[in-house]
Amino acid sequence: MEQPLDPTILTIFGAGGDLTWRKLVPALYRLFCSGWLPEKFAIIGLDQRPLDDAAFRQRLRDGVEQFAGTGPVDDEDWARFASSLSYLAANFAKEETFERLAGRVAACAKEWQAQPTTIFYLAIPPQLIETAVSGIHRANLAADQQHTRIVVEKPFGHDLVSAQDLNHTLTQVFDESQIYRIDHYLGKETVQNILAFRFANALFEPLWDRRYIDHVQITVAETVSVGHRGGYYDHAGALRDMIQNHLLQVLCLVSMEPPVSFKADEIRNKKVEVLRAIRPFAPETIPLTAARGQYVGYQQESDVADDSTTETYAALKLFIDNWRWQDVPFYLRTGKSLPQKQSTVTIQFKPVPHRSFPVTAVPDWEPNFLVIHIQPNEGIDIRFQAKKPGPEMRMDMVNMAFRYQEAFKGLPLPTAYETLLLDVMCGDATLFMRADQVEAAWQVVMPVLKAWNQSAGDLAQYAPGTWGPDTAVSLLSRDGRQWIQQPPLG
Ligand code: BG6
Repeated sequence: MEQPLDPTILTIFGAGGDLTWRKLVPALYRLFCSGWLPEKFAIIGLDQRPLDDAAFRQRLRDGVEQFAGTGPVDDEDWARFASSLSYLAANFAKEETFERLAGRVAACAKEWQAQPTTIFYLAIPPQLIETAVSGIHRANLAADQQHTRIVVEKPFGHDLVSAQDLNHTLTQVFDESQIYRIDHYLGKETVQNILAFRFANALFEPLWDRRYIDHVQITVAETVSVGHRGGYYDHAGALRDMIQNHLLQVLCLVSMEPPVSFKADEIRNKKVEVLRAIRPFAPETIPLTAARGQYVGYQQESDVADDSTTETYAALKLFIDNWRWQDVPFYLRTGKSLPQKQSTVTIQFKPVPHRSFPVTAVPDWEPNFLVIHIQPNEGIDIRFQAKKPGPEMRMDMVNMAFRYQEAFKGLPLPTAYETLLLDVMCGDATLFMRADQVEAAWQVVMPVLKAWNQSAGDLAQYAPGTWGPDTAVSLLSRDGRQWIQQPPLG
């Protein structure tokens, strides 16, 4: 950040919710501790429950203690931070809520004698967004394009049409440049590093295409079940919850063309080109290019229908129809209740064109791999053949590893929300989704959603703690390939 931040008011709609408690305020506190917040800064939390400022602050302190990872909270630091926190009991359907909010914004501006940047962070269920946006509009809170921004959390729509409707609602009031659609994966250091790895090094890019790459696997595996989120999850499923956003965004970063500059729109243009180049799923091929599963016991989770056919595991095989990637499969998978928490991108290279060595030299020949560990064990591995020491010519796979923990000792990885919140405050939209990106991503998954909606005949069960349904294994074995599991952390 080159310049100090302008005075800022962050209004959080849905401030009583989990996201504010677990992620947003802990991230803001970390930013405060590292000196990144502007000197003139206020957080106004809005939610339905009647609560006074003191109770609101106490609840948030509890969240910071648990989730900020900054150790025991120092009373003095907290007092300074908490002085910026206030609460407003809100009913988004009522004019009065927005009038009071406008009053508080005006009071800050008066006290600071400066025009603040006002951010509206919507951490509310999608059905409330329209009401909130129209309230903001009617109270004339969004009129100043230079100084107002809106942040919208996922899920961004339920399908293409609802995402288009939501974009319409937002763009009635806000200019696209004021809208920050969050995909928290894009805030992860290791995800941002994909661009650095590809475009700040001359070594890898010449190999990064159909001539040298056999296929790409993107895995986001979670050990957790749906837990207390059944009410939301049962209407979403793994395809909507993870693939439409997080995995497709990672795929874009892995496969996009080199940007001419690091300007927000240049990067976003390059990413949207990838989404538009993804070969549309033909309905008759879906059984061979998509697999889904549900972990045993899912239907017994709270707020989940007894006969639910929602998938808790989804895998897709995609092709990108352009010169770089023609015929290179991209396999994506994600699921709950899997054996390991692991988000990785694995690039498998093509075999050597000719094996000059005797068969005995490499009994189990493996190709080269490049593995990007998004989390945990953040870093990158390159696996290649090396001669085993000894008189005979024998080879084995070895690993060259970069780990953040070793390479950047003493530099903790900022959380995704720290990065994203700071970017919103700075007005940098590079890591946020533009309207056309969100819609293009929905376009990719719509045929699969439609087919899965029509019949659940292919929904396979899997036991919790296993790597998903057999149909996901077949997705690759039909192509003579297999999912590459990273070894558990030792
Ligand atoms: C969220 C999904 O977007 O991402 C959750 O709604 C999922 O279902 C979470 O658990 C995973 O995020 P992370 O950062 O833990 O990989």
